[in-house]
Formats: sequence, structure tokens, C-alpha cells
Amino acid sequence: MDALKIVFLFALLVPLSSATLVVDYCVADFNFPVGPAGYPCKNPATLTADDFVFSGLGVAANSTTTPFNASSVFAVDVTFPALNGLGLSIGRLDIGVGGAVPIHSHRASEVILVSEGTIIAGFIDTNNTAYYKTLNKGDIMIFPPTLLHFQVNVGKSPALAYVTLNSASPGFEITTFALAGNDFPSDLIQKITLVDTAQVKKLKRIFGGTN
Ligand SMILES: *[C@@H]1O[C@H](CO)[C@@H](O)[C@H](O)[C@H]1NC(C)=O
Ligand SMILES: *[C@@H]1O[C@H](CO)[C@@H](O)[C@H](O)[C@H]1NC(C)=O
Ligand SMILES: *[C@@H]1O[C@H](CO)[C@@H](O)[C@H](O)[C@H]1NC(C)=O
Repeated sequence: MDALKIVFLFALLVPLSSATLVVDYCVADFNFPVGPAGYPCKNPATLTADDFVFSGLGVAANSTTTPFNASSVFAVDVTFPALNGLGLSIGRLDIGVGGAVPIHSHRASEVILVSEGTIIAGFIDTNNTAYYKTLNKGDIMIFPPTLLHFQVNVGKSPALAYVTLNSASPGFEITTFALAGNDFPSDLIQKITLVDTAQVKKLKRIFGGTN
């Protein structure tokens, strides 16, 4: 194998890293495992314009997350492979009347743009300072990376918002799901949160946790 072929193979297998961009794009090849910088790249010769288009944000997701009455559709690396390595993702949030996007965090910064309705959005910084604000159509707010944040529909109609994040794989961790969807003993969760064991068990029944 000549050196040029080896370099080409290397370019296919090593995902984009923003520090050292040596290719224009790196559409994810799911035949290989994901690494810290994303997936390896598909052979560019096999790509068409369709690889760079995602058409899923026109309608709300079919199912809402009970009991929060909200849903999301996300273009992230695994649903839109062209985002691989580009440090970008986008999604839509549909929040029913009285519904909420539960408090959560991710390893990326987020910008939310309200498109319909009225929401209260907020986050808590590492000094435990809480920032929250009522947002209407056209308002945007930012959520810094890793900080806990949420959105609540406080209007009289369904709310729609679009979010962009500076990661193709933001890694969502929803606090309630994380605490109540696992098999930690409920007494242990009571110990580390001070939430009554009975309440922990109730939440575990809702979110699929055991013990
Ligand atoms: C919702 O369900 C319809 C019919 O089953 C399907 O065609 C559509 O793709 C689904 N939409 C989403 C966003 O999953
Ligand atoms: C969920 O949201 C829908 C749409 O806004 C609303 O009609 C419905 O009453 C909400 N459901 C609950 C249980 O609050
Ligand atoms: C942290 O919070 C305290 C008490 O709420 C406040 O006095 C202080 O200014 C805050 N520090 C920073 C760096 O925000």
C-alpha cells in the first residue's frame, strides 16, 4: 500500500477534530465504533446532497414524555450523521399546556429560540445562583455547558422552541430520569438526596427504576 493510500485510509478512520481540520466534513460511518471525537468518516465518494439534509424538524415527535407532557426531536450525530465532528446539533421542543422540559444538563452550551407560546426557562450556576425568565416568541436564552436547566410552558397554548447546541452529541442527563430510572437501592437515593424513600419508590415506579 503506498503512502497516499495510507493517508486516505487514515482520513476515513479518524474523525474530525476542530483543532486540526484536515477534511471539510466527516459524515459518520456507523460501521465503526464512536470515539472521543465522534465517528470515523464515510468515504466522501459515496456522499450525495441528501447526506447533508435532515427533514425531521417540521413536526412534533409522536409521543410525549409522560408525565412532563413535552416532546423533542433532535438532529444529533446518530440521527443526522453529517453533524459528526462539527460540534453542532439542533432540535425542536414541543411543550404542552402546563408541560415542562424537566431539569437536565448536557456537556454542550445551548441556545433556545422560542417560536410559539410562552415559557419560563432557567438555569442554576455552580454558585447555586438561579436565573429564570419568561420568554415569548422571538426570545432567545442561553444555557451554559453542564449547568442544570429547564423550560416550563406557562402559556395557554402549546409552546414550540428550537434549540441549538455546540456538540453533535450533547449527552443529555435528565435529573429525575437519572435518579429514578436506575437500580440503586431507594434507601441509598434517600441518603444522597434527602428525598423520602417512599417518594423515591414512587418516582422509581414512574420512571422504570427498581429497588
Ligand atoms: C409519526 O408517526 C407517523 C405515522 O406513524 C410517521 O409517519 C411519522 O414519521 C412519525 N413522526 C415522527 C416525528 O416520528
Ligand atoms: C398536554 O398538552 C396538551 C397540548 O397542549 C394539552 O391539551 C393537555 O391538556 C396536556 N395534558 C396534561 C395532562 O396536562
Ligand atoms: C455567589 O453567590 C453568593 C450568594 O448568593 C453571592 O453573594 C456571590 O456574589 C456569588 N458569586 C458569584 C461569583 O456569582
